[in-house]
Amino acid sequence: MLIISASFVVTDILLTGSVRDYLYEQRIRQDSLSLERLAATVAPLFVSGQTDALNDTLTSSAGELNGRLLILDTDGKIQFDSSARLLGQRSELPEILSILTGGASSSYGIHTLPDAAVTSADGDARVVYCAVQMVDGTGPVGVLLYCSSVGELIDSLDRVESNLTVLFLIVAVIAVIVSVAISRLLTKPINALTRTIQKMGHGDLSVRANVKGTGELRTLAESYNAMAEQIEALDRSRNQFVSNASHELKTPLTTMKILLENVLYQPDMPLDMRSEFLGDMNHEIDRLSNVVGDLLTLTQMDSHRLEIKKSRMNFSETVRETIHLLIPQADKRGQDLNVRISPNIVLTGDRSKLEQVVYNLTENALKYTPDGGHIEVMLQARNHNAILTVQDNGIGIPPEDQAHIFERFYRVDKARSRDTGGTGLGLSIVRQLVQMHGGEVTVSSKPGEGSLFTVRLPIEEKGE
Ligand SMILES: Nc1ncnc2c1ncn2[C@@H]1O[C@H](COP(=O)(O)OP(=O)(O)OP(=O)(O)O)[C@@H](O)[C@H]1O
Ligand SMILES: [Mg+2]
Repeated sequence: MLIISASFVVTDILLTGSVRDYLYEQRIRQDSLSLERLAATVAPLFVSGQTDALNDTLTSSAGELNGRLLILDTDGKIQFDSSARLLGQRSELPEILSILTGGASSSYGIHTLPDAAVTSADGDARVVYCAVQMVDGTGPVGVLLYCSSVGELIDSLDRVESNLTVLFLIVAVIAVIVSVAISRLLTKPINALTRTIQKMGHGDLSVRANVKGTGELRTLAESYNAMAEQIEALDRSRNQFVSNASHELKTPLTTMKILLENVLYQPDMPLDMRSEFLGDMNHEIDRLSNVVGDLLTLTQMDSHRLEIKKSRMNFSETVRETIHLLIPQADKRGQDLNVRISPNIVLTGDRSKLEQVVYNLTENALKYTPDGGHIEVMLQARNHNAILTVQDNGIGIPPEDQAHIFERFYRVDKARSRDTGGTGLGLSIVRQLVQMHGGEVTVSSKPGEGSLFTVRLPIEEKGE
């Protein structure tokens, strides 16, 4: 509205100003031409005192020009007036003075104030004055003043101005209506989105923005929905994680409670049986503490709090030492744990985290391979990568499960894993740790024939 009003006011002033100037100029040019001619004709009559001839000429000219003609002598006294109203009076009009005392040969002026000293023939005070000097051979003899009404001109200019004002008001009303409509149109989807976001802020993660139209608002609504989707998924997976974790913790606790109650309420239990129960409890405590350790690692990874202390390290040594820890376990079950390691493969990584990767994969291979089975761990360098493979001839993984085994708490055979003490966290930790080192882990397996896990770790750090 401000911009429209300002431009209208400026247009109004400029337009009517220049139209007025143009019309006045036209008028003065017209008048002055005829007046100069008339002054040349009447000057000799005035000097020679031919009053009748002068009167006739001036009266008829005044009629032709449709104005009022006056002659003033060199003292500024009105000697002739076609309207015969001011005869004998002295005139102080600036146009007259500029000729008599200012030395000008002609002078013009427009007077629109109602107090003009000399009114037009029909008494209008809005007048144009044209004054020209009358000369004869000896010099200035007086001034011929022509006065005519510009009332009509001013009236039509006023009409233009009032038309412009009406136009302005119409445009202003239309502008207000249109801008209100446009702002409604613009703010409606924004308000709807705001309400959606507020609902989400109050905890309803299922609300989605209404995607309509095109352009930025559509993009905004789509981005918001994508974000809401993410948050909801995150919330779901967090709830899932908490419920899975509670379940995993509850199972060993229940087992322990049963074992403990047996020992507690049977004071006369044979000693060897009692120590067997206590041994089982000890085993459950170990399991519990492992699960808690894994959960801690995972939550630290999620909140990016897991510290990775990378340094140049001999990965060959790390693999050898880690496998060494598992030899007794393999021996116990008559499994053949074969190791083939290329020496001195050096890479940048966190030693204890990579130990965990090797340990988890090899432990799985032992766990999911029957007694007397065959496991082979191999490490070699290929194309600036360290390639670690853990192969077994165990039970294998069905194709439909292979895509999921790296997910948290995912176990192929829930019942069997429970016997072997698996929680389904080992591989998810492996994958995350490997990714933190810029590598990747893949699996290929055939049920009944065995599994092959391959870890690729870059030997040179990016940007190194
Ligand atoms: N070498 C393997 N052979 C056959 N199945 C495997 C092998 N490694 C993993 N799996 C399957 O993948 C599942 C997920 O393995 P993961 O190591 O994550 O969990 P887990 O061994 O059950 O428990 P955790 O390692 O947390 O103690 C296992 O439960 C098992 O079904
Ligand atoms: Mg495991």
